[in-house]
Amino acid sequence: MNQLIFIIKYFKYRIKAKTKYDIHSPFVFELITKVFYNKKSDNEIRSIEAIRKQLLKNKTIVTFEEMGAGSLKSDSKTKNVSNITRNSAKHPKYAQLLYRMVKHFQPANILELGTSMGISSAYMAKANTKANLTTIEGSEKIAAFARENFNQLNINNIRQIIGNFDNKLPELLKEKCIYDFIFFDGNHRKTPTLNYFYQCLKNKNDNSIFVFDDIHWSQEMEEAWNEIKQSEEVTITIDLFFLGIVFFRKESSKEHFTIKF
Ligand SMILES: C[S@@+](CC[C@H](N)C(=O)[O-])C[C@H]1O[C@@H](n2cnc3c(N)ncnc32)[C@H](O)[C@@H]1O
Repeated sequence: MNQLIFIIKYFKYRIKAKTKYDIHSPFVFELITKVFYNKKSDNEIRSIEAIRKQLLKNKTIVTFEEMGAGSLKSDSKTKNVSNITRNSAKHPKYAQLLYRMVKHFQPANILELGTSMGISSAYMAKANTKANLTTIEGSEKIAAFARENFNQLNINNIRQIIGNFDNKLPELLKEKCIYDFIFFDGNHRKTPTLNYFYQCLKNKNDNSIFVFDDIHWSQEMEEAWNEIKQSEEVTITIDLFFLGIVFFRKESSKEHFTIKF
């Protein structure tokens, strides 16, 4: 999808998206008021953003195997740390939303597909230091930078797994852990995204939350998101354009929301 189409889609989203005043579901209304729009800074946020700043200045060259669907801008396998961070780490606005969601829902077991430099992992781990967070990254070299960042931030509730999601995810899910919160942020293509989604369904419960990155990034991701929304087990979905949030709550009827964020 070219960048112009993507921008047009974003404007269409802005026009269609609802605010809290249009929402009748008490669960979604509370989520919007207490979590989505309740933006505040704190020391944890400042410390993670200080790491991001360091990474954005770091011109160290990293040669790595590019995995997944790559970026809209570049497919190069040799990039500096600054470029990797700029192209992959979730923007502060969305990373801090993950932070607030984890603080609000207090998931005990968190899984992330796609660590990169560890920015979103750090946010989720800091939001609930009692949680166990497992994050998978295909590139050993990139994962080493993330490890260094977790050390600098004194984070000790993250388990890093290095390898391709295609092999590591089925192995991990065999441990039979129930994940309360899963962030899917790597390999943004239709078939892999749907495969990861269907595999993770076995390791969730009715209160689990799945968050998908870049649901409108490409035609393939649009198709994956539409199929996820239609899945029988899914009840509420929330489209924030750059993130798609999925709930399985049995007490809610099936409804799809597009919310201004
Ligand atoms: C968008 S970045 C993750 C950014 C990170 N969640 C953040 O916001 O800070 C996606 C990462 O997933 C990794 N990745 C993509 N496809 C993969 C695959 N099939 N197996 C393992 N890692 C993969 C890439 O190497 C990349 O570092």
